[in-house]
Amino acid sequence: MAKIAIGIDIGGTGIKGALVDVSSGELLSSRVRIETPEGGRPNDIAEVLKVLISQIPGATPDLPVGICFPAVVQHGVTMSAANVSPEWIGLDADSLFTKSLGRPVHVINDADAAGVAEVKFGAGRKQDGLVIMTTLGTGIGTALFLNGKLVPNTELGHLEIDGVDYESKASFAAKEREELGWDTWAERLQKYYSTLERLFSPDLFIIGGGVSKQHEEFVPLLKLRAKVVPAKKRNNAGILGAAALAIRSTKN
Ligand code: BGC
Repeated sequence: MAKIAIGIDIGGTGIKGALVDVSSGELLSSRVRIETPEGGRPNDIAEVLKVLISQIPGATPDLPVGICFPAVVQHGVTMSAANVSPEWIGLDADSLFTKSLGRPVHVINDADAAGVAEVKFGAGRKQDGLVIMTTLGTGIGTALFLNGKLVPNTELGHLEIDGVDYESKASFAAKEREELGWDTWAERLQKYYSTLERLFSPDLFIIGGGVSKQHEEFVPLLKLRAKVVPAKKRNNAGILGAAALAIRSTKN
């Protein structure tokens, strides 16, 4: 029997959702996207989710909903707010969405969701040892896996290097903001990944985020001991991982 869930990925600029077959990691519906409301405030986002789910073909009320979000999420409570409204800090997001959507939801960190998708269905399949997934976008998200098991809520994008929160230098948003060429950006990435490598000695780095489709421009410039591969699920990784974890959480 197919295991089906709704996956939703909340980002600083857009909110995306689809129906997911979590056995195969395939989308079963088209992807619906709505702009993130200005300011990214909790009640406004909750309203958008209602509309978005109503637009996903086949999203019946019995299906579990997995939602991923750009913050530390502990037991359904959002504990940080790096690129969204500060109103999320300390908010019980699980309860907010459960109430507004009228169905049980499972909320997790966006990079953790993307990492779960890669480890289950993509570039990290059947990889033992220590895997670090990084998403290069508005911020830098990270997910750490030991023998396929997630260690949740690592926030390694905020490592302090050269006295600054390094996502402000090495995220894709920083590349855009400062109009950095690939070479200059790759130098910053080199510094970032070397620091991660010195601290964790991973076996594999997976590089995700929208820019990973242009991996040929920068991945070959990185010199690291660990293998470095681009993500395979790219823009759908958050949706897939959130849906997979929603199914897993309903089993407990
Ligand atoms: C946040 C993380 C998030 C990442 C990617 C960071 O700024 O602190 O929680 O996973 O951005 O969205």
